[in-house]
Amino acid sequence: MDNIFIEGQNPLSGSVKISGAKNAVLPIMTAALMAEGKSVITRVPNLRDTRTMIRLMEIVGATCTFEDDKLIIDGSTVNNPEAPYDLVKTMRASFYVLGPLLARFGMVKVSLPGGCAWGPRPVDFHLKGLEKLGAKITLESGYILAEADRLKGTELSFEFPSVGATGNIAMAAATADGTTVIDNAACEPEIVQLCEYLNLMGASIHGIGTPKLIIDGVDKLHSANIEVIPDRIEAGTFLTAGALLGEITLEDVNPKHLDTVLLKLKEAGCGITTTKSSITISPADSIQAVDMTTAVYPGFPTDLQAQWVALMTLANGSSVITDTVYHDRFSHVPELNRFGANIKLENNTAFVRGIDELIGAPVMSTDIRASASLIVAGLAAKGQTVVSRVYHIDRGYEKIEEKFRSLGANIWRKNPVT
Ligand code: UD1
Repeated sequence: MDNIFIEGQNPLSGSVKISGAKNAVLPIMTAALMAEGKSVITRVPNLRDTRTMIRLMEIVGATCTFEDDKLIIDGSTVNNPEAPYDLVKTMRASFYVLGPLLARFGMVKVSLPGGCAWGPRPVDFHLKGLEKLGAKITLESGYILAEADRLKGTELSFEFPSVGATGNIAMAAATADGTTVIDNAACEPEIVQLCEYLNLMGASIHGIGTPKLIIDGVDKLHSANIEVIPDRIEAGTFLTAGALLGEITLEDVNPKHLDTVLLKLKEAGCGITTTKSSITISPADSIQAVDMTTAVYPGFPTDLQAQWVALMTLANGSSVITDTVYHDRFSHVPELNRFGANIKLENNTAFVRGIDELIGAPVMSTDIRASASLIVAGLAAKGQTVVSRVYHIDRGYEKIEEKFRSLGANIWRKNPVT
């Protein structure tokens, strides 16, 4: 199995191109299943999760071609509305086929995702939303079976602005009979892009980017092309490394998507300059401790909480970091403490007392973002770090060690992924 090796404390400099966003491309791919014909999606990151989603597309019958960063999905051949356990258990985002396939075929069978490394992660909002749209939902041997001749527009309000549930319900409602109003909808840029894509396919969605989505159902969607937005989480990960290790520039990024993160980095003492599509960060002489609480967009993303904890381990002073979106998402804490960090965990809050130096250590990846925080810590630590179970990082980061190497880091992989 692959390991990532890091000889820490090499200064970083130069520029790096940010890839297309994983969390945007996955639902866009499932939306493409709603139409006959070829959809061309560009700036698709070559990730384990994108490849898993392509396998799922093929299982349901779509014809896919993936070359460089261009993915062509032909939805004309889709004929098997079923997402098997083997795939759903490795990638929860497979659940995104639920709404689109139900809308197109009047039935869909999707394995229940189950728990994950950071908590139970229920799907009740998705199911309640589909029921409100008129679907009959039953559980059969671990599979959700959803059925409806044609979904009917409705009004619903999420208890929490779930990204996945907003995406699934928006796709299902796009071809429902009548108008659907979703209150307390997610406003994340990835959901904005999904809704814009649905509109390119012929849907009629209004209020995009606000907590109230109004979806006027249309009879049919057609195929459409789109370029995926930049990955703000990959960008944020590189920013935390730059904050510790040297001035770097991120290219092909949307700084607006990172407003809150950039403010926090400034508070920590970093220099930030932006253009329309780039961000340059210069490190602080000494990183200041800054408290942080995750929140839904435009708040600080939970997907950057682990990396922020890593940054704060080397801050001047103590910080309090709370995750309000995923309360159990702290598997990186014991691993960061293996570097000598001083982090105590109480419920959904990490109390970080900054120290002068981290010391490289063997550590283990537990999920995508926890892995990223271990890489950031390893790059900043003295001596060698070995990160094991790196398949987690490959789910969400394209060529991470190549990108960091191009910035001057001493990082390599023992058995390169083919
Ligand atoms: C997506 C992202 C993930 C990110 C998360 C929050 C993708 C593929 N994944 O995950 O990287 O960390 O948004 O920004 O885009 N909840 C329920 N019931 C539900 C659905 C959600 O209780 O039916 C709760 C969750 O347990 C969690 C909160 O709502 O506490 C937010 O979850 P959600 O926004 O749905 O996250 P995902 O879409 O799974």
